[in-house]
Amino acid sequence: MTLPRPIAKTSLTALFFLLSVCLSVAVNAQDGKALFSANCASCHAVHKKATGPALAGVEDRWPNKEHLYAWIRNSAAFLKTGDAYANNLYNEYNKTAMNSFPNLKTEEIDAILAYIKTVPAPGAAAAAGAADPAAEKGVEGDNTLLFGVLTLILAVVAFIMLQVNANLYLL
Ligand code: HEC
Repeated sequence: MTLPRPIAKTSLTALFFLLSVCLSVAVNAQDGKALFSANCASCHAVHKKATGPALAGVEDRWPNKEHLYAWIRNSAAFLKTGDAYANNLYNEYNKTAMNSFPNLKTEEIDAILAYIKTVPAPGAAAAAGAADPAAEKGVEGDNTLLFGVLTLILAVVAFIMLQVNANLYLL
């Protein structure tokens, strides 16, 4: 019996691959909000000007994503590139220095930006809230999709494990 070994090996590799995908999806979904609260919320709101600008729609104002990453990691260094938009903004905010976040990974910044997009405008939320209690439905809908995907992945993992189990008897 030489056949089952590679099958078991492939199955195990697939299992670990799926588990890591599973984990990264789950981490990404919850990280944006936590990262925003921990690092940015002291100066930024999503829909209201605070110490820094409201961040809603910020990606439209920064067509170059690499510049946006560079700005968030180290705004002082980015200002030195002479970028006109950034320098105008800096002057508009009375040269208030934004903290630098050299340790934020690209995925973490993406998670923050993704979170910003999920926060509904206060007007819309209030109107929906007054209309009916389904105001939170949007958020719940997103989670339903996430859990659906996770369930699917776990089902595949379970299937693979059954497969591995069956093959083990043949070894
Ligand atoms: C100490 C306060 C402070 C903190 C903390 C801070 N910022 Fe800022 N941020 C500012 C200020 C002030 C500006 C306006 C430009 C300037 O003065 O540097 C700004 C500008 C920005 C801009 C450009 C906004 C636009 O309208 O183009 C982005 C994007 C941004 N911040 C993202 C973040 C993110 C993401 C975090 C958290 C990881 C963060 N900031 C944390 C103060 C802060």
